Amino acid sequence: MTTRPLTPQERARLEAMKRQFEQRKRMAQAFQAIRHKVAVYSGKGGVGKTTVAVNLAVALANFFNKRVGILDADIDCPNVVRAMKVEEKPTYDGTHFFPAEKWKVKVLSMGFFQQKEDEAIIWRGPMIHNALTQFLEMTQWGELDYLVVDLPPGTSDAPLTIMQTLPSLDGFIIVTTPQELAIVDALRSINMVRRLNQTVLGIVENFSGEVFGSGGGEELAKQLGLPFLGRFALRPDYRDTSKPTVLLSEAVRQEYEALVRNLQSVLAPTPTS
Ligand SMILES: Nc1ncnc2c1ncn2[C@@H]1O[C@H](COP(=O)(O)OP(=O)(O)O)[C@@H](O)[C@H]1O
Ligand SMILES: [Mg+2]
Repeated sequence: MTTRPLTPQERARLEAMKRQFEQRKRMAQAFQAIRHKVAVYSGKGGVGKTTVAVNLAVALANFFNKRVGILDADIDCPNVVRAMKVEEKPTYDGTHFFPAEKWKVKVLSMGFFQQKEDEAIIWRGPMIHNALTQFLEMTQWGELDYLVVDLPPGTSDAPLTIMQTLPSLDGFIIVTTPQELAIVDALRSINMVRRLNQTVLGIVENFSGEVFGSGGGEELAKQLGLPFLGRFALRPDYRDTSKPTVLLSEAVRQEYEALVRNLQSVLAPTPTS
């Protein structure tokens, strides 16, 4: 067999493949000690993704004694830091980020890198992709039972990057509200997750009650043969922002304990995790 030198194009392609392989390897290493990775997602903003992600993470850590981290992947609108009331920043040793910790949950958010809280981050697609990938590779979470990922809404670069690059994500919790339009939107989100060959773990309904109605999320889950994981009533309890609401309200705590139990059964066959 004769060998000829590679053309510059071939060499470039080979280099790109090598880089991608190395990146995957680094990413896999960064996440290897995390048992379950669960992302919270919906196509629409304002439905309660961040609320669900934060309260789920805090409930797992405080009522179920799990080792938990939360990753705020919403680059444009990183609200996890505010919702968690985190004051300390992640530390950086020149190679790795070490998440901050609050309410027994390790926290990493793009919000930590913002100068002012109200400063909008307007990044172009490739930059978002790069920032997120680097962020993911460079974080040392240590051993965790759960990593909860708060995703931005829509089908933009950040959710796509997470869906495509986070290694062995267990799947997505889709948040919807009882209104009809929100249900249509939830359906779209579910289709997007499935198109990327990822798992939909189930649906939760937020803002349930007299104002917006109740049951749409469960109905959708039934129609699609998906688990219905929980229902969270619209409550004034969320107005008190001194702590995540699961730590303030017994009723909300019960709702989130039900979510955790349902999630654990969906994430079987490791029912002890
Ligand atoms: N069940 C609820 N009852 C009352 N207010 C809620 C509830 N869930 C969320 N909220 C409030 O609604 C607003 C939007 O929620 P958020 O979690 O930021 O949505 P998203 O992350 O989907 O944009 C927040 O101010 C939050 O406190
Ligand atoms: Mg949010």
